[in-house]
Amino acid sequence: MSAPSHADQPLLIVIDGPAGAGKTTIARRLARHLGLPLLDTGAIYRSLALTARRRGVAWDDEAGLVALADALPIRFGGLGSLAEPDAPHDVPQRDVPQRVWLGDDDVTEAIRTPEISEGASRVSALPGVRKALLGLQRALGARGCVAEGRDMGTVVFPHAPHKFFVTADLQARAARRQADLVPSEPGAMGQGPSLSAVQAELHLRDARDSGRAAAPLVRAEDAVLIDTTSLSPEGVLDLMLEALGLGYGRGDRG
Ligand code: DC
Repeated sequence: MSAPSHADQPLLIVIDGPAGAGKTTIARRLARHLGLPLLDTGAIYRSLALTARRRGVAWDDEAGLVALADALPIRFGGLGSLAEPDAPHDVPQRDVPQRVWLGDDDVTEAIRTPEISEGASRVSALPGVRKALLGLQRALGARGCVAEGRDMGTVVFPHAPHKFFVTADLQARAARRQADLVPSEPGAMGQGPSLSAVQAELHLRDARDSGRAAAPLVRAEDAVLIDTTSLSPEGVLDLMLEALGLGYGRGDRG
């Protein structure tokens, strides 16, 4: 890859990879480091699955889902929405999840449940749904961003000059995902799911995300591969900055 250009082109960096590989954490840190907004495309599929659940549309009703996708009123903290194309873009905040709204409803937490993870994986396997959400993703990323998902480098932004594919072995991904799911509130009741349950769920999602006919999870030929199994987020950020020609940046640890 060549070094980032600040000429006329908006700076677009894409990160693809399987669930739990650390994409969201690293995409947020890279975006902060480079002063770019973050486009979390998984949140778009999750928001569609949530909307379908709330409206009684089944996760395999392609026509019903396409109708919802065509009018999905999604808005991201820092990135805005299609309805406000000129809204100022902001850099993600340090270790704070990006807020996601559907209309006036803050769905940031509601889209992260295991049930909605499953729904997102199901609705995203439908070709009509992917097609319906293509324009939205391209429009949201048009002014430059760090975009993360499964098909950023292959389908949504195939001409992005900077592509990464991050992965990690299944056990490491399950352990990270489990840590995310364990209740973190002091005094919170209950346990998170077991490691083996998380591993089984990830395995199933991997198979569906990689095995589907429409835009399966594959590494773009020109993507830099990073295995995060034994790397810290800081280590991954350093590797990415190096690949971008910005090595030894070590500026943002947050
Ligand atoms: O990255 P995530 O776990 O939030 O993604 C949720 C689901 O959405 C995932 O199982 C696959 C799907 N997805 C997709 O098919 N394409 C994308 N660009 C992003 C996510």
